[in-house]
Amino acid sequence: MKLYNLLEKEEVVSFKDALKRGLGSKRGLFFPCDIPFFDDIDALLEKDFISRSAQILSAFIGDELTGETVRDMVEKAFCFPAPLVKLSSFIYALELFQGPTLAFKDFGARFMAQSLMAFSKGEKITILTATSGDTGAAVAHAFYEMENIEVVILYPKGKISVLQEALFCSLGKNIHTLAVNGTFDDCQSLVKAAFDDEKLKQSIGLNSANSINISRVMAQICYYFEGLAQLSKSQRENLVLSVPCGNFGNLTAGLLAKAMGAPIKRFIVATNANDTVPRYLKTKKWLPHKTIPTLSNAMDVSQPNNWPRIEEILRLKNEKLTDLEGISFTDKETLESLQSLFEKGYLCEPHGAIAYRGLSTNLKEKELGLFLCTAHPAKFKETVDLALKQDIPLPDILKKHAKMPLLSLELENDFKVLRVFLMDLKRKTHDDKKE
Ligand SMILES: Cc1ncc(COP(=O)(O)O)c(C=O)c1O
Repeated sequence: MKLYNLLEKEEVVSFKDALKRGLGSKRGLFFPCDIPFFDDIDALLEKDFISRSAQILSAFIGDELTGETVRDMVEKAFCFPAPLVKLSSFIYALELFQGPTLAFKDFGARFMAQSLMAFSKGEKITILTATSGDTGAAVAHAFYEMENIEVVILYPKGKISVLQEALFCSLGKNIHTLAVNGTFDDCQSLVKAAFDDEKLKQSIGLNSANSINISRVMAQICYYFEGLAQLSKSQRENLVLSVPCGNFGNLTAGLLAKAMGAPIKRFIVATNANDTVPRYLKTKKWLPHKTIPTLSNAMDVSQPNNWPRIEEILRLKNEKLTDLEGISFTDKETLESLQSLFEKGYLCEPHGAIAYRGLSTNLKEKELGLFLCTAHPAKFKETVDLALKQDIPLPDILKKHAKMPLLSLELENDFKVLRVFLMDLKRKTHDDKKE
């Protein structure tokens, strides 16, 4: 598989390099030189989730990994379902939160972990990442107990929810969590400083796990096909997908699925008040505002990183921006949608509720729509309880981790201190294991 850098098109790298580096020079995104196309989509959709996903990902990866290896990776990564739930004869929810950390990020993080393992050939790797909550959990669980890989996760002390912290700071073993005295931006700056330190990078085998890694987007393509596979051929004729968007990785994967032949008629781009893209689709002017905090906080992004990939897909497929239907909703509308879904017997959370509202207010006659549910309602328990006047139960995994002791260490917001920690960790883990 070859990928080019969207900012420096002559920079062409292998899947392995794109996976390990995350970003190209000038911080450009990697994009596949060839998007595979499936002529016989019906045959592809008849396959089971694992076989179909292995075929899709192998078609991308090409001869860098054998088909057998990719299948093995997919079996380990996608060990949970992505079911469709029928809400009416023309609206379905695609539930993407049945993985170990109860969010759609499990698909991408777990496939990325498997990909790094497949290429590591016994070399020692340190994954360093910053999180404001959900990514940390998905990455921690995806890499937990993997040989030769140490994971260091930075998060802002006291600024993530108690349940979020419990989910990834109680694992131990090869997962090291550092509560930074600072903000999420400080954590990101510390990670950036580590990646800028060439000597450190070489010495500890630093690898990227950031959310724009192409391996994550590739994994997400698979659940679009899985959603479609659960419909009949006739139901797929006029199909609309509504995607709750923040950084636009999810929509990138959906558009790639369509470019590969998935029968998707159109997409609804649903955002919260951070509506840079819906406004851009209407006015053709890219005018990000200051980020606004909302109830669907995982989508509080006003400068979506993945947008250049979307423009590239549209350009390659001769599609117009106007083929995307952009729409944004206020917190009040989000809460109303949560309530209206609950009255229909469906328990949702704010991000899924935004996708639902995008669909239910836009669906035309003869169309059938899927909206993507990206997180388990219990991950946003406070908002959901308040909106629905309920005390929704916690799933077992959240209950279990809530009772476990936190293993995080505190870290000053100082790169020198982080550097010492990383070098010590290398001595204690990578070097010890050699002896
Ligand atoms: C629960 C949830 N829904 C939706 C999104 C938006 O997805 P994307 O950033 O791929 O647009 C996120 C992103 O973090 C999320 O955590």
